[in-house]
Amino acid sequence: MLLDSRKAIVTGGNTGIGKASAQRLAREGASVCVNYYSDQEAEGADQLAAELRQGGAPKAIAVQGDVGREQDVVRLVSQAAEELGGLDLLVNNAGIEKQIPLLEMGLADWSAVLQTNLTGAFLCLREAGKVMAGAGGGVIVNMSSVHEFIPWPGFAHYCASKGGIKLLMETAARELAPKKIRVLNIAPGAIITPINKFVLDDPEQEHAVESEIPLGRMGSAEEIAAAVAWAASAEAGYITGTTIVVDGGMSLYPKFV
Ligand code: NAI
Ligand code: BGC
Repeated sequence: MLLDSRKAIVTGGNTGIGKASAQRLAREGASVCVNYYSDQEAEGADQLAAELRQGGAPKAIAVQGDVGREQDVVRLVSQAAEELGGLDLLVNNAGIEKQIPLLEMGLADWSAVLQTNLTGAFLCLREAGKVMAGAGGGVIVNMSSVHEFIPWPGFAHYCASKGGIKLLMETAARELAPKKIRVLNIAPGAIITPINKFVLDDPEQEHAVESEIPLGRMGSAEEIAAAVAWAASAEAGYITGTTIVVDGGMSLYPKFV
């Protein structure tokens, strides 16, 4: 198994890519803390933790927390480290998006996306990094996006947050390398998850998205989870400070002639 006896937190770990990652990490032998956002999600997250234990995870817990709130993140990381018996893997996955034309974007719209996607990633990285530094190392995998480098009209706040994660990751990789902490990004293309409901509910939009992808289809959460598990493992032990793109070729700009 790739991640035998590793101890991981997956933020936003109860749906979509986070859930598939939690499941894959557990199958690879890791203990997993599934972070979820709201009290309404508690039952589902507890159920997922139970499934992970049945599926072979030595330990699995579910912990509520808003990644954009400092006190929540401090509590999340210390509870995870205490109950899992350490922490050597963070999957910084929680994220939100909402289409809004730039000139109509309110400060609250902008701030909500930056607070979750970028500040949340920073807070989790900082708190988890402290534990890893004290314990001799670890791995931080950020879920960025092809929009860390592809501009996307209507999503300026989202692109700014993912572009921000790129340089946060690169800087953190340099700063934390002496502490034996690897930091890298996974950049998914269009993946079938709840965040893309607005596309999946509209056959025309879905077709338009598929036509942007050389492989001709959206990806699955499990295809991203596979990259997360590998990137976190010793197999990827020489990889830090870079982005692994998993996008069916979307970033090759297939419409460019
Ligand atoms: P999703 O909507 O299923 O997952 C997002 C998760 O983040 C949810 O569980 C949500 O409750 C959680 N979350 C939101 N705000 C939070 C907060 N403040 N604190 C804690 N958790 C919070 O969608 P998906 O696709 O699984 O998204 C996961 C990540 O992957 C996001 O960062 C997203 O930007 C990124 N991504 C998704 C792509 C896609 O096509 N689905 C492509 C590229 C990146
Ligand atoms: C977004 C998805 C979008 C994908 C490709 C992701 O970052 O979350 O909604 O389908 O990028 O554009």
